[in-house]
Amino acid sequence: MYYRTMTINDYDAAIALWGESEGVRLRDADSREGIEKYLLRNPGLSFVAEVEGGLVGTIMAGHDGKRGYIQHLSVANSHRRAGIATQLVNLCLEALKNEGILKSHLMILPENEAAKKFWANQGWACRSDIQLYSFINGDDQNV
Ligand SMILES: CC(C)(COP(=O)(O)OP(=O)(O)OC[C@H]1O[C@@H](n2cnc3c(N)ncnc32)[C@H](O)[C@@H]1OP(=O)(O)O)[C@@H](O)C(=O)NCCC(=O)NCCS
Repeated sequence: MYYRTMTINDYDAAIALWGESEGVRLRDADSREGIEKYLLRNPGLSFVAEVEGGLVGTIMAGHDGKRGYIQHLSVANSHRRAGIATQLVNLCLEALKNEGILKSHLMILPENEAAKKFWANQGWACRSDIQLYSFINGDDQNV
C-alpha cells in the first residue's frame, strides 16, 4: 500500500472510485475544474492510497483558518476493512494539525451506517447540538 498527496492527475481514477462509492454524493463542484481549484486552495491536505499504481482510496480536506473540513473519504470495495481509511484519516489530520487546525468537521448521509460506524470507531462525535444550514446563490440546484 502506498499513500501520497492527491494531485489533479488522480482526478479520473478518483471520480471513478467516487462514482461507485455509495456514501459519496457528487455535485458540479466535483468537476475537474472544481477539484483542481480545491487542491490548489488546500495544498497537501488531500491524499490517495495506491496498490500497484491503481488508486484504491481517497480523502480530501481543506480548512478556513479555524476549522478543518473532510470530504470524499472513499475506499474501493475490494480493499475495505484493511485499515486504509483509518490511515488516510490519520494522514489528513496530521497535515491539518501541521497547519494549526485542531478541530475538523465532516458530513455524512444519514442512511450511511458504515460511515457512522467508521467515524465512531475513529472517536468522532456525531453532533446533536447544531444544525447545518445551506444556501444556493443562483438557480443551479446541483452546484
Ligand atoms: C467508510 C469507508 C471509508 C471505510 O473504509 P475502510 O478502509 O474499510 O475502513 P477501515 O478498514 O479503516 O475501518 C476501520 C474500522 O471502522 C469500522 N468500520 C469500517 N467500515 C465498517 C462497516 N462497513 N461496518 C461496520 N464497521 C465498519 C470498523 O470498526 C473498522 O475496524 P475493523 O475492520 O477492525 O472492524 C468505506 O466503507 C467506504 O469507502 N464507504 C463508501 C464511501 C463512504 O461512505 N465514505 C464515507 C463518507 S464520509
